Amino acid sequence: MSKQTGILLPRSAIHFFVSDKATEKMASELELDWRFSRIGVDVMEGNVSEAIAFYQDKPSPDLLIIETETIDKSFTDMLDDLAGVCMAHTSVIFIGPVNDIPLYRKLIDMGVTDYVVRPIKTEDMITIIANTLIDKLGTSESRFIPVLGAKGGVGTSAIAELMGFLMADKVKEKTVLMDGAGGWGALRISFGINPVMQQVEAVGVATNSTQEEVEQLLYPVSERLKVMACGGDPLLGVTMNGVEMEALVNRFMRTNPVVIADLSNAQSEAKYIAIARAHHIVLVTTPFVTSLRNSRRIIKEITDLRGGSGSIPVSLVVNMQGAAPGAEVPVKDIEETLGIKPTAIIPFNPKLFNSIIAGDKKLIQTKDGVKILESLNPIAKAIWGDYEQRGKNSKSAGSGGLNSLKGLFKKP
Ligand SMILES: Nc1ncnc2c1ncn2[C@@H]1O[C@H](COP(=O)(O)OP(=O)(O)OP(=O)(O)O)[C@@H](O)[C@H]1O
Ligand SMILES: [Mg+2]
Repeated sequence: MSKQTGILLPRSAIHFFVSDKATEKMASELELDWRFSRIGVDVMEGNVSEAIAFYQDKPSPDLLIIETETIDKSFTDMLDDLAGVCMAHTSVIFIGPVNDIPLYRKLIDMGVTDYVVRPIKTEDMITIIANTLIDKLGTSESRFIPVLGAKGGVGTSAIAELMGFLMADKVKEKTVLMDGAGGWGALRISFGINPVMQQVEAVGVATNSTQEEVEQLLYPVSERLKVMACGGDPLLGVTMNGVEMEALVNRFMRTNPVVIADLSNAQSEAKYIAIARAHHIVLVTTPFVTSLRNSRRIIKEITDLRGGSGSIPVSLVVNMQGAAPGAEVPVKDIEETLGIKPTAIIPFNPKLFNSIIAGDKKLIQTKDGVKILESLNPIAKAIWGDYEQRGKNSKSAGSGGLNSLKGLFKKP
């Protein structure tokens, strides 16, 4: 799996020390990018010695980016002092005047995150910064895939469940399927789970506890699929907010390559954060006008949220096709109405779904359920490419040598 940087980046502080006008302009443009909306960027004039002086009595930021005019011994000699004033969580990137492989190697070996040569384009700097901040979360190669309904009752939970099986059993990645809905959540019912923990307690465990304690939140469903379901939360109480949703997702992504969230009945704020942090979004709609109208608005909002241009990572699932043929928008017109082509069309099948509700079988244990799962396979391909052709052990080496843990800038 490769790293994906097209997500809203975690809240953090970045300081630049620059000497060149073009670098200063590039740094000041960063905050205009949607991924930076929670990042504070301070741009100061200076180089390594100014930075050393500055942090004598001030805390260093999450990421420190320093432009240097010199790369000779006088530069490397100062790095000990810089490390001495930087806090343990600070990552350091240098922007230098020329390409110098031995220097690059030396810096990386010291624990510097990167050395880049100017002029550097804003887009390239964004990618480098995003890589660094995502690496810090420890979730760099995981994928977060929320499933959002255009309205209530369109089959969001059913599709989220199938997405869990698709990722775990077909793509064969360790997957967590989480419910964003507290007491309203449906996953515990469909999986016959009797959770001991309320959502509010689950969030506490995810943020403050050991891996073993986090594992206790998760119920194994198949070899690679685990479900996080909560119960007992008051239905009229407050469900998970955006901060809590993000804390859980971050925690699960550290040890699971795929996290899927069922957003039906989640709070709007939690939906917002989930959509902004998503690597890929599954939008579920019916072919009826109200649902399609909402879909169009949601697609527009997702586009705006993600910078307003370019393609958005959304797969559209049209569910319950054929429920009321005369009242439905024909499939061929949906693409025109919404501006995106449906990835999967799922027929209305009350017999199948009623038998699921009656508890006879799980969706995935039925022939028609497997057919639906197959029809969702293009979503897996949109996320992983042609994963069926790929050796499962050919995960990319991630950040390679760029994030050496030893050295000056990563003190215990
Ligand atoms: N393709 C289908 N054909 C027939 N029934 C379906 C289909 N998909 C879902 N259902 C049924 O529709 C109902 C709603 O499905 P589901 O609970 O998955 O939707 P939801 O969008 O998560 O709803 P909520 O807004 O209540 O969370 C369920 O009873 C489910 O069994
Ligand atoms: Mg639901």
